[in-house]
Amino acid sequence: MASSSLPSISLPVNVFELNNILSLVLTLTITSILLANGAMAMAIPTTLDGPFKPVTIPLDESFRGNAIDLPDTDPRVQRTVEGFEPEQISVSLSSTHDSVWISWITGEFQIGNNLKPLDPKSVASVVRYGTLRSQLNRRATGHSLVYNQLYPFLGLQNYTSGIIHHVRLTGLKPDTLYHYQCGDPSIPAMSGAYCFRTMPDSSSTSYPSRIAIVGDVGLTYNTTSTVSHMISNRPDLILLVGDVTYANLYLTNGTGSDCYACSFANSPIHETYQPRWDYWGRYMQPVLSKVPIMVVEGNHEYEEQAENRTFIAYTSRFAFPSKESGSLSKFYYSFNAGGIHFIMLGAYVSFDKSGDQYKWLEEDLANVDREVTPWLVATWHAPWYSTYKAHYREAECMRVAMEDLLYKYGVDVVFNGHVHAYERSNRVYNYTLDPCGPVHITVGDGGNREKMAVPHADEPGNCPEPSTTPDKILGGGKFCGFNFTSGPAAGKFCWDRQPDYSAFRESSFGHGILEVKNKTHALWTWHRNQDFYEAAGDQIYIVRQPDLCPVQPETYRLNKPKPQKAKRR
Ligand SMILES: [Fe+2]
Repeated sequence: MASSSLPSISLPVNVFELNNILSLVLTLTITSILLANGAMAMAIPTTLDGPFKPVTIPLDESFRGNAIDLPDTDPRVQRTVEGFEPEQISVSLSSTHDSVWISWITGEFQIGNNLKPLDPKSVASVVRYGTLRSQLNRRATGHSLVYNQLYPFLGLQNYTSGIIHHVRLTGLKPDTLYHYQCGDPSIPAMSGAYCFRTMPDSSSTSYPSRIAIVGDVGLTYNTTSTVSHMISNRPDLILLVGDVTYANLYLTNGTGSDCYACSFANSPIHETYQPRWDYWGRYMQPVLSKVPIMVVEGNHEYEEQAENRTFIAYTSRFAFPSKESGSLSKFYYSFNAGGIHFIMLGAYVSFDKSGDQYKWLEEDLANVDREVTPWLVATWHAPWYSTYKAHYREAECMRVAMEDLLYKYGVDVVFNGHVHAYERSNRVYNYTLDPCGPVHITVGDGGNREKMAVPHADEPGNCPEPSTTPDKILGGGKFCGFNFTSGPAAGKFCWDRQPDYSAFRESSFGHGILEVKNKTHALWTWHRNQDFYEAAGDQIYIVRQPDLCPVQPETYRLNKPKPQKAKRR
């Protein structure tokens, strides 16, 4: 049938027929070009079209829901360098375009008993760099450290890391490709040549082209699918919204589990298997040595050890622009990427209004110049507006403490992870649809071994008992939940249908790409792992309306002496 319906063309042709053929070819060509550019595709909705009627996409059975970790025998996680040659090389941003951090590890980790930690001073931290690969004539030095993960219990193995190096490069030009080598030239043990591109200068007309946003990544075969899809979409910057390696789903002997809460109940302390961090760093080096990554902590980075020390691997392995952004903590900081100001908030440290984080946030927000960085994007790990059963309203205390402040300063978009699924909200503030509230997007679907979140809290029998919803390490288990006071869920802890603030939700692994086009329009696309990398599982233009939603804190700014920029940056 297909062949009989095709138009037949007889040759030779006269001029009239030739004109018709040329016309057909021209039409087909133009159609192809238009389709390629999306001009004839279905129009992409904008937030101005909202609020949208809630949509739930049924579970796609074709996706690979069985998330299995890469084993330690996988060549991608094995050590391939010798001696003190650098490995696990990564780039991260400082607070402004003119500075980045280069991080790497030298020497071998040790796991077992009677360990002898390496001397961090025994290997120098040097980066040679420049705009020409053949002329790496600039040099920067930094600092190094080792960390230990100690379990003083019979039968548990301790861990000591390789030497972790962090070097900050300064004086960089915006939107410029730099080549670099890192290591210790005196051994000699320098890396091969890598390159990264700096962010564009901060202004209302310059933005990174594509920012990838991933969460709850881990290191499974679904993670590799997420990462390969993400690489294919050519990000300029990667945001990881918490839960990095899932090393704490392993005992110190390397035995794995698929669930944090349901396994290892007899362990004297919740163990971790720290080599999983090294595996993750090795697997990610090909992308992170070129594309900067910015990370905020998740609950899986908690990793308690002897003497109640926590978050040691996380705070040791990554470089954060905390000092550069006026923060005294590695758990919260801010940075600019072109005309976007990013606020990275800590859900697992104090967020109370009397605490250091809140005070820092107030000051940071008060100093954002929306003429220079029109877009204000906030990220943290545990979402405020997720409607899945898993972690439902778990971060309610954080929302109660901080939502007013973020709303007052006109945060445009919020990105979270933690819930292993995808969800995009309508613009919302205090559980009420609000054209000036942020769009909240949960992308905790990176593919880790804890698998997918599927049930929703609004389905029959799925609404959790409110007192069970707080998390021990998020707000110290404090309970701030309440029953809704108006709308269809008045008097109840959960809705009995998809809440109106939830615009779109789907359980699938994937990643997102944010493309800020100008000071009012940003294209958000969520990509599912089971699709072609360019295909959109969800897509929307997020539109700012500064005239409708003016940022209110002018009085605050006027009444408070503005800190000197040099002091903060
Ligand atoms: Fe999490």
